[in-house]
Amino acid sequence: MCGIVGYIGTQTATDILIAGLERLEYRGYDSAGIATILEDKLYCVRAKGKLYNLREKLQTEINPSQIGIGHTRWATHGKPEEYNAHPHLDMSGKLAVVQNGIIENYRELKENLLAKGIIFTSDTDTEVIPHLIADYLSSGKLSLMEAVQKTIIDLSGAFAIAVISSDFPDELVVARQQAPLILGFGQGEFFCASDLTALVPHTHAVLSLENGEMARLTPLGVEVYNFAGVRQKKYPRTLDWNPIMVEKQGFRHFMLKEIYEQPGVVRTCLEAYLNDNWHAENNPDFSPINLGISKDLLTDLQQVQILACGTSWHAGLVGKYLIEQLAGIPTKVDYSSEFRYAPAPITANTLTIGVTQSGETADTLAALELERQRRSSLDNQYKARLLGITNRPESTISQLVEHIINTHAGIEIGVAATKTFVAQLMGFYFLALELAYQRKSLSLVELENITKELRQLPTQIETILETQERYIEDLSHQFSETQDFIFIGRGINFPIALEGALKLKEISYIHAEGYAAGEMKHGPIALLDAKVPVVAIAIAGSVYEKVISNAQEAKARDAKLLGVVTVKKNDSNSVFDKLLPIPEVNELLSPILTVVPLQILAYHIAARRGLDVDQPRNLAKSVTVE
Ligand code: AGP
Repeated sequence: MCGIVGYIGTQTATDILIAGLERLEYRGYDSAGIATILEDKLYCVRAKGKLYNLREKLQTEINPSQIGIGHTRWATHGKPEEYNAHPHLDMSGKLAVVQNGIIENYRELKENLLAKGIIFTSDTDTEVIPHLIADYLSSGKLSLMEAVQKTIIDLSGAFAIAVISSDFPDELVVARQQAPLILGFGQGEFFCASDLTALVPHTHAVLSLENGEMARLTPLGVEVYNFAGVRQKKYPRTLDWNPIMVEKQGFRHFMLKEIYEQPGVVRTCLEAYLNDNWHAENNPDFSPINLGISKDLLTDLQQVQILACGTSWHAGLVGKYLIEQLAGIPTKVDYSSEFRYAPAPITANTLTIGVTQSGETADTLAALELERQRRSSLDNQYKARLLGITNRPESTISQLVEHIINTHAGIEIGVAATKTFVAQLMGFYFLALELAYQRKSLSLVELENITKELRQLPTQIETILETQERYIEDLSHQFSETQDFIFIGRGINFPIALEGALKLKEISYIHAEGYAAGEMKHGPIALLDAKVPVVAIAIAGSVYEKVISNAQEAKARDAKLLGVVTVKKNDSNSVFDKLLPIPEVNELLSPILTVVPLQILAYHIAARRGLDVDQPRNLAKSVTVE
């Protein structure tokens, strides 16, 4: 979604802002703009479309300003046209504002401003903000900080803003309410941004503003206040990020690089959460898993509810399977966006898990907050127990939940989630095994066997990448003109069929659907003919024969059949037209492997079609609005 960058210091602001906006491109956007102050005059340049349009416009003028704000806009209110792009200015053209979020009461505010004779030049909700600030400033009695503070009180919604004014040329004022905003501390220079990616090249000292906080950045330092104007004592923290993490490192796209990072991510998770040298015989008194979750969160659980969107929701479906099958706890999975407006009845001793790669998804944060609030006045057994699973432990979700399982996938730039999905699955394996240990639903020997098999996964993913990537690239040429795809799977691999279809549709724009294989004959089979390829996940295990039968039914309707199969199951050769083999694996752990060929297939089909794989149309990496 929208991205904000702000700078005040000694370097040329335009360069810093544009480089920062480039780092935020992955969040998704359709127009961009910057505002700077030079010799007490405000300059604003905006452009529709990609950043190169903005860069081209900026080439005509040399502007050594040392203060500025920049923005990439993902249209919500008003079309993606230049006149709707941020920054938005007040009528005098002296004050500029960028915003990420939605101002819910903007209509009412706009009517009041129109009645005062204010002329609006955009269709956006944001434009009320500069006019309101200017209105407060017109009394001549307020500082910029005070005028912004008063304006914020008038706003309702979820937003992060950055403001500059040529009447206050040495300050940048920012505020945060339910949308991310991070401050960066350099030597005599200070930054703000919606995401760490824009800050890492400049500084490792950062501070995430909390909801209801605002800050004044000047060349001399940073002051943080709450919305009531009370100064807050804050300390920056140090990031252990390396700027190279946000480079393509020789890969054609971030998505391919991130697919290749998966063995490393799984390895890091294993190192972080598996107790070394744990043996069933020697160590029965402590768990093989080391998540560091307080006992209060996990004891006497009667139910688990998982809240997530998109790919994270698919990870939640695998999580449900694991928690139910390994730990025996009834588990339900809801779309966060549905849960918000129709939450399930409150049950006792319930663990609520929010799953999100960005840590900023508005629906998931709101669903967790709802759960916290509606349980807050209830008896102890009904109190909220909130857990987050994310690769971004510094993000907003960590302010809402009692414990974060850091999935150690780091930053993911490709909009299509790959390594973060696999890492979320790892989070669920560890949680399910920990619960199984605590509840004794698995024997210690069973636990030991599974942990041994988990340790094989990184090498097994590497095998798939080494043996399959080139082959799938060639294969994908056959499908670059295909219009519809079906993915089928059963049991723990049904969510992987959904994920395979989502990956393909979001980056290739090919219509694709995932189905529980047994459901095909209840309707979707009517779609099949020679033009609709079917990808079946048919690996050795409890539902193998069933999936093969379902695949045969598709074949009988002339569908071209691709099979994600286990290497050793040669009898499937005759069923499928093309095989996407994975190493032999325990069915319970198989999703970590079966998803990989599907990611590669989606990637190569989209790349073959010449599409913008990392930034697919209409999508955003971080969905910070409802
Ligand atoms: C995944 O490829 C998608 N880009 C999307 O479905 C994503 O998973 C969804 O928006 C949820 O995001 P989150 O994990 O950041 O909450």
